Amino acid sequence: MRHAVYARYFATLLFLVSALIPPAAFAADTALPRVAVLATGGTIAGQADARAANAYNAGAVGAQQLVQAVPGIEKLAQLSTEQVASIGSQDMNDKVWFALARRIQQIFDRNEADAVVITHGTDTLEETAFFLDNVLHTDKPVVLVGSMRPSTATSADGPSNLYEAVEVAASPSARGRGVMVVLNDTIQSARATTKTNTTSVQTFVSPNSGPIGYVDPASVRFLAPAFQPDSHKYTLPSGEALPRVAIVYSHANMDGVEIDSAIASKAKGIVLAGVGDGNTSKTALDALERAAKQGIVVVRASRVGSGFVNRNVEVNDDQNGFVVSLDLNAQKARILTQLLIANGITAPAQVQKAFAATW
Ligand code: DGL
Repeated sequence: MRHAVYARYFATLLFLVSALIPPAAFAADTALPRVAVLATGGTIAGQADARAANAYNAGAVGAQQLVQAVPGIEKLAQLSTEQVASIGSQDMNDKVWFALARRIQQIFDRNEADAVVITHGTDTLEETAFFLDNVLHTDKPVVLVGSMRPSTATSADGPSNLYEAVEVAASPSARGRGVMVVLNDTIQSARATTKTNTTSVQTFVSPNSGPIGYVDPASVRFLAPAFQPDSHKYTLPSGEALPRVAIVYSHANMDGVEIDSAIASKAKGIVLAGVGDGNTSKTALDALERAAKQGIVVVRASRVGSGFVNRNVEVNDDQNGFVVSLDLNAQKARILTQLLIANGITAPAQVQKAFAATW
């Protein structure tokens, strides 16, 4: 246990010291695209310590060290590194999200780089990717990358994933595709991808649509032409926090206790991770109706993991003033609902229109 405490002290010290260090740059061919690598922690920066009580300490390795540990990466791009945070992504929060969004927007607005790669824990990687995809005003490549094994593990997947993430970010065909996620030789869209396995390296899949491309050391291949992400971009609210939106997980014998608790905690929105096509019990539906009547944005999503949640099938959404999440899982539906509320969009019809923005 004592060693785990030392490991956390080390990670904190590393972060504090690295925050004082200006962005590091690596010598490279100036004809190469400029890629800024922004680190936030996670297993990709994890370091196992045999003496530690916990298996490894996520976020122990700094951005510069991560890049320097990948042979040949300097041949792909002119690289710079910055340490934005040094946390396990289960601790990801609005403060880091806002710092990331503002720094990336600044990098592009100031023409400091041609693309950005973000190293991140995999637990909430899809959420950060989706959040950035909805607030960044750019068509330049932004790629999130993580790993399922710490940097000190046998057959660590981080170095290869980071190499491929930079390869995609530096590719001319990566522009105009929104925020992407690269792990395990696949390129996924921020909207579609989700973590589906607790431990395997092939954990990120896009259940409804599949990957948007593939990458290997020899090539970056997209499966369809780039689309200019439409104007469904939202403004970051002032301050450092998004409105509270709760997720309530449905199950057999469901009552309205968690929903009423979300109402009592002043949630501005409630996302139902419903059974099947976003369903739940009559008792819970009555509680959701109470919430909607109080002006709380109610979105029906599903715990199922693939498929679309559709309006007015077993639930009368029109009558109840509910919204359906369509293809978005509950955690992404929550983020979009937060951004909509923060941008003053709360009427069910307007919220529903925003959920359908890219379909
Ligand atoms: N602590 C988890 C995280 O930072 C580890 C998972 C990972 O990064 O693969 O998301």
